Amino acid sequence: MKRIYLETYGCQMNEADSELIAGVLEAAGLEIVERPEDADVLLLNTCAVRAHAEQRVLGRITELGRFKARRPELLVGVTGCMAHHLRGRLLDHAHTLDFVVGPDGYRDLPALLERAAHEPVAVVRPDRDETYGDLEPRRAPGVRAWVTVQRGCDKFCSYCVVPYTRGRSRSLPLADVLREVRRSVADGCREVILLGQTVNSWHDGDHDFADLLRAARDVAGLLRLRYISPHPTHVDERLIEVMAEGGPLCPQLHLPLQSASDRILEAMGRGCTLAQYGDVIARLRAAVPALALSTDIIVGFPGETAEDFQQTADFLRTTRFDSAFLFKYSARPDTRAFGLEETVPEVEKSRRLALLIGLQHAISGAMNDAWIGREVEALVEGPARRNPAQLYGRTAQFKAVVFPADGTPAGTLRRLRVTGATTMTLVAAPV
Ligand code: SAH
Ligand code: SF4
Ligand code: F3S
Repeated sequence: MKRIYLETYGCQMNEADSELIAGVLEAAGLEIVERPEDADVLLLNTCAVRAHAEQRVLGRITELGRFKARRPELLVGVTGCMAHHLRGRLLDHAHTLDFVVGPDGYRDLPALLERAAHEPVAVVRPDRDETYGDLEPRRAPGVRAWVTVQRGCDKFCSYCVVPYTRGRSRSLPLADVLREVRRSVADGCREVILLGQTVNSWHDGDHDFADLLRAARDVAGLLRLRYISPHPTHVDERLIEVMAEGGPLCPQLHLPLQSASDRILEAMGRGCTLAQYGDVIARLRAAVPALALSTDIIVGFPGETAEDFQQTADFLRTTRFDSAFLFKYSARPDTRAFGLEETVPEVEKSRRLALLIGLQHAISGAMNDAWIGREVEALVEGPARRNPAQLYGRTAQFKAVVFPADGTPAGTLRRLRVTGATTMTLVAAPV
């Protein structure tokens, strides 16, 4: 039992956890392989945020079960946010699933895999002290590194499974975060994205998130710093001040809103009114004029009327986010909203979603068009995927940009003039 195949679903935090898992397994002498055919252990690091995410994983478990039918010694297991939910099914599905390990059980994975060769293993108990701050993730090479600074969530938004799947919020010590940022830079990364479900609630007793940003920003060799996802109730003056100082800290923010109806925000338990959210955005935009903003929206939450929805559409129209992730509400077991009667039929959810997609598409296009003629600085990542005669990079606003290949090495900054744009990508020329 030496070779592991690892597949990741869900958000960036789960991607970062897969790097952590890979680090733990490699440190124990196991090898990560690229194809399930070559592996002794198949591991799915899963997401439970919407029913669709779970269905994809369940389908995949069935598929991988076919590998196991041919090679009964093969181990198949699940980590991540579906672990809690799948535990009960472990024994029924023992012919397919050999182990289920939740987000706080990764430290012991090598020993758990040994055990799983003899009996079904389930470790899903949350551990509110586990930060993995002392462990070394195995990061994919590249210009960008994701560094987890906070795990879990205490917000309990009424629709969301994350506090149940990942447990209570805890912050990594400042020293552990800085060590990871320095290690990433030493490994060749030039951009770091700090991660947490409410990343700006980070606090280690002596320092707040603004302190963390200043310390990370000043790490020698780091060209760019970002963070995701901040919660609007934790955007304070100190954070806005650091954002305004600029430097490696980029003028870009993903600030989830969910709905622009105060009734719905209240029912969602977001702890933030539309006026408060709007005020945060106004202050941020005043302090950071080049700020790019994105958000998350859920349509079809129980009780969402045509008028509530209209308020959300109007808010997107007037606020003009650079981009928005738009979702249909998906009822999740365990959450408070699970008990609410669903009042928006599936076809109406789809209609509302399509309306917002069309609206945001037009806004994103116009926001990108506004860059035409302006100068930007791209952190170059390498050849463009579609056209190797072009280089690909990201602007400080995290917009993808392509330009004619001129030998600029990956990991360096290149000044460009924007000559064209689509809703997804800027087209530019070196200056
Ligand atoms: N911690 C982040 C969000 C994590 S989940 C934050 O609060 O900002 C990412 C996004 O998925 C959420 O912002 C929300 O828009 C969406 N989401 C979460 N639960 C959902 C559900 N039950 N149905 C539909 N979308 C959901
Ligand atoms: Fe979920 Fe809300 Fe926590 Fe975000 S803040 S992870 S939406 S409970
Ligand atoms: Fe992320 Fe999905 Fe878990 S969005 S936190 S992997 S439920």
